[in-house]
Amino acid sequence: MIIRSWKYEDILRISEIEKECFPGEPWTFRMLASSFESDAFFGVLAEDGGEIAGYGGVTVASDSADIDNIAVTEPYRNSGVGTAILGELCSLARSKGAEKVFLEVRVSNSPALCLYLKNGFKGVHARTRYYTDGEDCLVMSKEL
Ligand SMILES: CC(C)(COP(=O)(O)OP(=O)(O)OC[C@H]1O[C@@H](n2cnc3c(N)ncnc32)[C@H](O)[C@@H]1OP(=O)(O)O)[C@@H](O)C(=O)NCCC(=O)NCCS
Repeated sequence: MIIRSWKYEDILRISEIEKECFPGEPWTFRMLASSFESDAFFGVLAEDGGEIAGYGGVTVASDSADIDNIAVTEPYRNSGVGTAILGELCSLARSKGAEKVFLEVRVSNSPALCLYLKNGFKGVHARTRYYTDGEDCLVMSKEL
């Protein structure tokens, strides 16, 4: 398993995984492609024998960063891939000058909440009915 930056040719597969993991609110191929035009966005993925096992992206704006997305395909879950991707995103953000990183998570998303809590994120506040289906989101942050 290696962790590396996104290449343009990864986007088709990433857009398919987005649809599987975030039905109703996936980043589309076009949104993913436009991330390559941003100097502030950094995408990383975990690759196993040529297969994308998971990926994530972070946007850095001066001294703070936002984790935009993180997902691991079902066969690779619960084996540390999400932790590895999250760690790489935080290291990248820090190397670009961020001192604090933020993310948003659905309050019902226990696997993601476990991942973030075990990696030092703390809840900051909730946003009521934040998602289109009415679910609340928890904003979490971590000092880098
Ligand atoms: C959330 C997600 C990225 C976690 O990825 P992962 O590779 O399974 O995470 P890890 O294996 O690194 O697990 C991290 C910790 O969370 C815990 N965890 C992971 N999945 C869990 C689950 N379903 N239930 C309980 N704990 C869980 C693990 O036990 C692990 O702790 P440990 O190291 O002490 O055992 C993955 O479940 C996923 O892609 N979900 C769908 C997309 C998504 O919801 N993304 C997050 C949007 S905010």
